[in-house]
Amino acid sequence: MAPQLPPLKIGPLTLASPVLLAPMAGYTDLPFRLCLRAYGRLGMAYTELINPHSLLRGKGRRRAQVLATAAEDAPLGWQIYGSDVAMLCEAARALEGQGAPLIDLNMGCPERKISGGGAGAGWLRTPAAAVSAAARVRAAVKIPVTVKLRLGWDATALVAAGMVPGLEDAGVAAVTVHGRTRAQAYTGAADLEAIRCCVAAARGMPVIGNGDIVSVASARQMLALTGCAGLMVGRGALARPWLIREIARDLAGELAEPFDERAERIAFLWRHLDRMLAFYGSEGGVRLFRKWIPQYVRALVPHRRDLPALFQIEDEAALREALAELAGSRGN
Ligand SMILES: Cc1cc2nc3c(=O)[nH]c(=O)nc-3n(C[C@H](O)[C@H](O)[C@H](O)COP(=O)(O)O)c2cc1C
Repeated sequence: MAPQLPPLKIGPLTLASPVLLAPMAGYTDLPFRLCLRAYGRLGMAYTELINPHSLLRGKGRRRAQVLATAAEDAPLGWQIYGSDVAMLCEAARALEGQGAPLIDLNMGCPERKISGGGAGAGWLRTPAAAVSAAARVRAAVKIPVTVKLRLGWDATALVAAGMVPGLEDAGVAAVTVHGRTRAQAYTGAADLEAIRCCVAAARGMPVIGNGDIVSVASARQMLALTGCAGLMVGRGALARPWLIREIARDLAGELAEPFDERAERIAFLWRHLDRMLAFYGSEGGVRLFRKWIPQYVRALVPHRRDLPALFQIEDEAALREALAELAGSRGN
């Protein structure tokens, strides 16, 4: 039996499911979110991380694409990052003014150009300052503010659990903990015991567990070992976009239905491509879809060796032809 979870409440929001889609820069754009939402059972999705400078002062197509949403794209958490607290507050107020239901502060991004300047996981080197930054953003808006953390800068300073009470006192509505340090980036396994310590440190604020949930079994394990209030799925949902539905059904005690994964993946591929082309235009859509090709090749034709040729494709007709060939290939 899967453990049962009460509804996940984040501030005034009661989510339809406790399973969330992680923010993933370059992947969780509007086309992908809408494709994934069509499966149902998604508690909340997030934007890719947003730079407040570009939000407040920027112009241009790329900015508009990152900020794009739609009525069906709800609820949506808007994730911002930065080391300048005044800018974060201004960005949060601007997003609130545009109707955002929730702001998420990124305190976990390991990328050197972000964390090195004190943003993202850079905040974990100064946990007290991170808590007071979250408190200031929280005070700047009426909508809920959440924080997404890693465990710490490196293994010598696991600060996340120690930050939880301060974040809760600051009025942060929920914390998501990715069970790795900045130094680990994406290596090793997520440390579920360290996430459990974060859960134990919270008095009532929901703590959402994140890291390596790639199946119903690993979702159950995250819940059983951490006692977290919700689950956030990242790369597992890129590889298997229906995974969030599968996990949410399991948590609701529903039996798994027989499911032809290969047929569903091919159907998803075409829906995904169509949405990307409609959203980015033919040229931009082809260019951006190319980075998805490895996901589809890995799943449909894992032994295929001509990936570099697929990355060269420049036009829509050639891409459709290559994808039709992938879809028609035998999986071995
Ligand atoms: C390609 C990629 C982009 C990511 N971008 C973001 C981001 O913009 N904001 C963020 O908080 N985390 C980002 N992450 C981290 C994920 O949200 C998540 O915490 C991490 O992948 C661990 O979860 P998983 O094991 O389920 O993938 C990114 C991860 C990947 C793989």
